[in-house]
Amino acid sequence: MPRTIVVTSALPYANGPIHIGHLVEYVQTDIWIRFQRMCGHRCFYFCADDTHGTPIMISARTAGIRPEQLIEQVHQEHTADFDRFFVRFDNYYTTHSPENRAFSELIFHRLNQAGSIVKRDVEQTYCEKDQMSLPDRYVRGTCPRCGTPDQYGDSCEVCGATYRTTDLVQPRCAVCGTAPVFRLSEHYFFQLSDYEQPLRDLIAAGYTQKSVANKLEEWFSAGLKDWDISRDGPYFGFKIPGEESKYFYVWLDAPIGYMASAKNYCDRHGLDFDDLWNNPANELYHFIGKDIMYFHALFFPAILFGSGFKTANKLFVHGFLTINGEKMSKSRGTFIRASTYAQHLDPEFLRYYYASKLTDLVEDIDLGLADFIGKTNGDLVGKYANLASRSGPMLTRQLEGRLGTLDDEGRQLVLRLAGAREQIRRDYEGLDYAAVVRTISALADDANRYVEQKQPWTTIKTDRERTRTTLTAVLNAVRLLTIYLKPILPQFAQKVEKFLKVEELRFADVETTLEDRPIGVFERLFERIDEEQVTAMVEESKENQAPKPPAPAPAPAEPFKPECTIDDFAKIDLRVAQVISAERVTGADKLLRLVLDVGGVQKNVMAGIATAYQPETLVGKTVVFFANLKPRQMKFGLSEGMILAAGSGGKDIFMLSVDPGAKPGQKIS
Ligand code: 2FM
Ligand code: ZN
Repeated sequence: MPRTIVVTSALPYANGPIHIGHLVEYVQTDIWIRFQRMCGHRCFYFCADDTHGTPIMISARTAGIRPEQLIEQVHQEHTADFDRFFVRFDNYYTTHSPENRAFSELIFHRLNQAGSIVKRDVEQTYCEKDQMSLPDRYVRGTCPRCGTPDQYGDSCEVCGATYRTTDLVQPRCAVCGTAPVFRLSEHYFFQLSDYEQPLRDLIAAGYTQKSVANKLEEWFSAGLKDWDISRDGPYFGFKIPGEESKYFYVWLDAPIGYMASAKNYCDRHGLDFDDLWNNPANELYHFIGKDIMYFHALFFPAILFGSGFKTANKLFVHGFLTINGEKMSKSRGTFIRASTYAQHLDPEFLRYYYASKLTDLVEDIDLGLADFIGKTNGDLVGKYANLASRSGPMLTRQLEGRLGTLDDEGRQLVLRLAGAREQIRRDYEGLDYAAVVRTISALADDANRYVEQKQPWTTIKTDRERTRTTLTAVLNAVRLLTIYLKPILPQFAQKVEKFLKVEELRFADVETTLEDRPIGVFERLFERIDEEQVTAMVEESKENQAPKPPAPAPAPAEPFKPECTIDDFAKIDLRVAQVISAERVTGADKLLRLVLDVGGVQKNVMAGIATAYQPETLVGKTVVFFANLKPRQMKFGLSEGMILAAGSGGKDIFMLSVDPGAKPGQKIS
């Protein structure tokens, strides 16, 4: 029976490149979907960029662009990276979408109605200079326990202490370095504990792998805490309905983004979202890394319970990637971007290597670079490609490119290979790709032994038809191995399909053989890796210092202020003003006291232009006057507005001037 299967991978943040650590999950998921499709099931693979939150807002400010521009650029880069690695989503969307806003508001509304949302005051760390609340990672200071300076606001990297930002000694804003203040702010909390029983039932029913369930048990025992789902503005995200400057926390709308991506796809393809997503007959799976289990095993299902949406059948949790046994590191050059890898090496090599390491366990997988070279050259080049290149070209060049029929021995070989199908199917289904690869590699050894034994390069000189029979068996073996490898190596499979002149191979094709028919022209399948290619990639990654999320990117000398709208700007009333008198201010080197005629009304203005303009040169000049600026009592007198001037200071200050004929009081737009 064909199944309908909906699958998601975690949404990458929209403020950094895809690296080979991310790719473990996308490759793992993509292989699974491709396998399911090859078995004839109806599959949907949804993902999106995770676009909201403070780090993205700050990255955009730092780059001097709007967050919308940043997430658009990153979306294009991410899409290109996934394409390079043959990760094929049915929809790769964005969480900054109308669908996601609508779902987030709906879910929030339903949770409110269910009585699961409460409001409480929380103490916030606030930077008055940047005018924003600072998340824990944006406050640095001295650890209150061990005294190490420059630690994050939530935990110390040296002694491991966890604390509240308010406990830090000499806290500093990580963006601008000024000391933050502490403010009370009312926040929205989701009462996770309301859903403890349904969550326990879900997990008891096999929602996660065993080791994840054990970890969850620890969290249940510690007690489920209320979850703060709001953030104060400025924030890049969705405003909470009815609030002026409060937003949904990024982690509320991020997983809802899975649904929004599906909804957007359904709307564009004439499908009904409810029928696809909420239908109990359809299967739903989320692939995630072990660092985000809490969100996916507790928060997300709980908000779905509270709002009447279906929860997934299962979470598939994987471990992290290490390289040569260590964490990815920029200084060692092992923080390798997907795009850098693809400039040096074939993306299918990495897919195969990851597959050879992945199981259904939540264990870290190691990319040993020497092992990677060995396995690629040994298996992909030495076993699979070699089998094809030793048989295909000979048949094409010397035997009119036509397959014969299988003899008994050939049929035995084919049967041995086809006999592994159920084992391989089970291992793919159960995410034990390492077992799949071991099985396929052993089958390829069997087929290579057959070639060695049959020596077609010798028999071709004396017995053409016997050689055709041998090559027919070998090419049938190539075809079977390709069926098995196709979820892992889609491009390799496509080349083999073309060269064997067959339709897109499906799993059920294991049951048939290829005999008495022509084949096409052989195309080289893989090139050996040279160690120098790997060295060059690592060297390039050393220079290629990717920003480390979620730490903020280095701030410019002066970060941009929070954005204002054109409506804000329109509130400014600009008028022509004529200088009636100008004089220096005793005790203030930079100030001039100006009296202005603003169309029959006189205004006193203290202007900080004394370093650039002699007062006597100003009398009679027409200037641009910010007329509705609230008057301000300064130390040297009242200032009733502002004249517009700009520059870096000293002599470098320039007043905005207008046509000398302009009438004082006249509006300027
Ligand atoms: O940890 C992360 O990279 C998050 N951007 C994952 C979000 S997954 C889902 F919940 F949106
Ligand atoms: Zn600051």
